[in-house]
Amino acid sequence: MKKTYLYLSIMAVALVFLSGCKDKETEQAVAKATVQSAKLQKAHDTKISDATKQTATQLAKDTTQVAKKAVESVKTHAEHTIAAAKKTIQDVVVAQAPGDRGKELYQKCAGCHGGRGEKRALGKSALIAGQSASDLANKLIAYREGKRNVAGMGNLMKTQLASMQKSDILALAEYISTFQTKKGNTE
Ligand code: HEC
Repeated sequence: MKKTYLYLSIMAVALVFLSGCKDKETEQAVAKATVQSAKLQKAHDTKISDATKQTATQLAKDTTQVAKKAVESVKTHAEHTIAAAKKTIQDVVVAQAPGDRGKELYQKCAGCHGGRGEKRALGKSALIAGQSASDLANKLIAYREGKRNVAGMGNLMKTQLASMQKSDILALAEYISTFQTKKGNTE
């Protein structure tokens, strides 16, 4: 019996020792695992921070890109606006040019036809006020080509228009067509 106790106690001690060993191993394993997981965690953190860095860099790039695009689009828009404004100015200038040119050219006609086309030139011509631009242009072109002679003074009018370009004649006709016929001033 005593031997059995002895064996038992040896076994118990062995068990305790073994279990102790096992605990130690476990402890070691746990410690290892902890270190490993800490390493992993660190690596993970690094990864995260790397990822964050990458994301931030990408974001910064994207933002720069977006900002560049915005600047570009504002630029393009401004250029378009400037181009449109230039075109408008050009259109206005072109639209005004015939009137100014016509007014300038009419100075040498005013002596006979009156400042606003209200006179019968040399008492012979029809009134030029109140006529349409196309009628006036046709008559003037006909005079310039020597094809019109209403009161026997077609040649005089031909001389007046000899040096004029078609664009001058059109500008003149356009300007004269703005003259209103006064009451009692009709043909
Ligand atoms: C020296 C005077 C004189 C001057 C300057 C003169 N004209 Fe005349 N104009 C006449 C006479 C005269 C006639 C009639 C000609 C004819 O016999 O057909 C006439 C006719 C016209 C007619 C035709 C009218 C109609 O309905 O039959 C027009 C338009 C006209 N002139 C425009 C002009 C213009 C534009 C100018 C300036 C570039 C001008 N004239 C300069 C004397 C003048």
